[in-house]
Amino acid sequence: MSRDVVLGGQWGDEGKGKVVDLLARAVKIVVRFYGGANAGHTIWVGNTKFVLHVLPSGIIRKGVLNLTGPGVAHDMEVVYEELVLATERGAQVVLDFNAPVVLPLHKQIDQLRESRLGKDKIGTTHRGIGPCYEDMVARRGLKIRDLKSEAAIRRALEHGEYYNSRCKEFDGSEIVPMTLDETVAWVMKRAKVLYMHRGDTREILQRSMAEGKDVLFEGAQGVLLDLMNGTNPFCTSSSTTLGGISQSMGVYEFDRVIAVAKAYLTRVGAGPFPTKLDDEVGQELRDRGHEYGSTTGRPRDCGWLDLFALRYSVRVGGVRELCITKLDVLSGLGALKVCVGYKMAGSDLQRFAHMDRVGDHATLTTELMESCEPLYQELPGWEEDITGCRTFGDLPQNAQFYIRTIEQMTGVPVTMIGVGPDREQLIIRELKVAA
Ligand code: IMP
Repeated sequence: MSRDVVLGGQWGDEGKGKVVDLLARAVKIVVRFYGGANAGHTIWVGNTKFVLHVLPSGIIRKGVLNLTGPGVAHDMEVVYEELVLATERGAQVVLDFNAPVVLPLHKQIDQLRESRLGKDKIGTTHRGIGPCYEDMVARRGLKIRDLKSEAAIRRALEHGEYYNSRCKEFDGSEIVPMTLDETVAWVMKRAKVLYMHRGDTREILQRSMAEGKDVLFEGAQGVLLDLMNGTNPFCTSSSTTLGGISQSMGVYEFDRVIAVAKAYLTRVGAGPFPTKLDDEVGQELRDRGHEYGSTTGRPRDCGWLDLFALRYSVRVGGVRELCITKLDVLSGLGALKVCVGYKMAGSDLQRFAHMDRVGDHATLTTELMESCEPLYQELPGWEEDITGCRTFGDLPQNAQFYIRTIEQMTGVPVTMIGVGPDREQLIIRELKVAA
């Protein structure tokens, strides 16, 4: 029996879909535990591209059971479409009956707040994630279990004047929220289908694990976007770490815990990004890596790999191994840089990623990241096309050294390396390195 986990090791968009897809081929159960339609997991099956947002990546595989836990924010339109796809593909889906439903109101509030914040905006995906989770924490709002009937939907929205009081936020704005009646009608359009898929995902999961079935937990976003440990307020509103699985699904023992990280770094939305490149190298990374959001189409900021931040993600995320994606994007780029520490502005304080240096347990807050200068180590690049490499030994010496530097700085092995967009363009290593 295996209980493997794939998390994002950076600010999301690391290419988790490919790794999840690889591991999902070997399991019968895939679990999404947090996040919502703010995520976009791209998966290729032959020449067909699937971009999934809410349901687990196992929905494109016949016979796979897909569970969305009680912490997943259910965007009804997206979930409906993905349920249709799952049915077409012969996969099973169970949505936890306690999971929150994202209302049109949540998306409108998300947009309103971002426009009110102006230049201080978070840069959210406008998918209503923050406002929906606010309601979950406040113990109100619509849940999957309420989709049972029109009366139950209405009851949940009217409870404690919930819906009308939420609409007060629009006072003084040009946005006209849907009325309660309109919202009930909107929810009703897809309620039946979603409700048909409701169930007790934690019970199903525990029973399946007791029967010895293999499970894959699919993370969304990345550790640096975690509500508690990420660069708050420039983060999402849910848990993106291993702890998020324990807290929401009640599972505490895992086998492989893999974080996916790009060979460089990207970020979409606002927030600190010490290694961001505003020059032609940044543009080159964006062009070569096709760095445009799969959910919003926004161009991503690009920069050098930040190993100080990645080491932090490994520690607070509960990560035990890394998958480095898009190594091929760095081919022919000339000399490369990796950030191995931060120098704090206005002081001599330096913090390093390396295991045997001091100061490596700092919490990477927005304040810290905004007030630091990255300390770089220059690494030799490589000219060779590596897209055909299938073993670690096939890689040029300098590319091998790049990977070894990541292992040395983060203290965990790199067990997979992506060298191109295709499913086959992945080097799988069993090697465990001594930190
Ligand atoms: P929200 O999750 O839509 O509220 O957005 C909050 C922050 O998280 C913004 O900076 C978003 O760009 C970022 N974010 C949320 N989901 C993803 C993702 O899947 N990939 C990359 N960034 C994301």
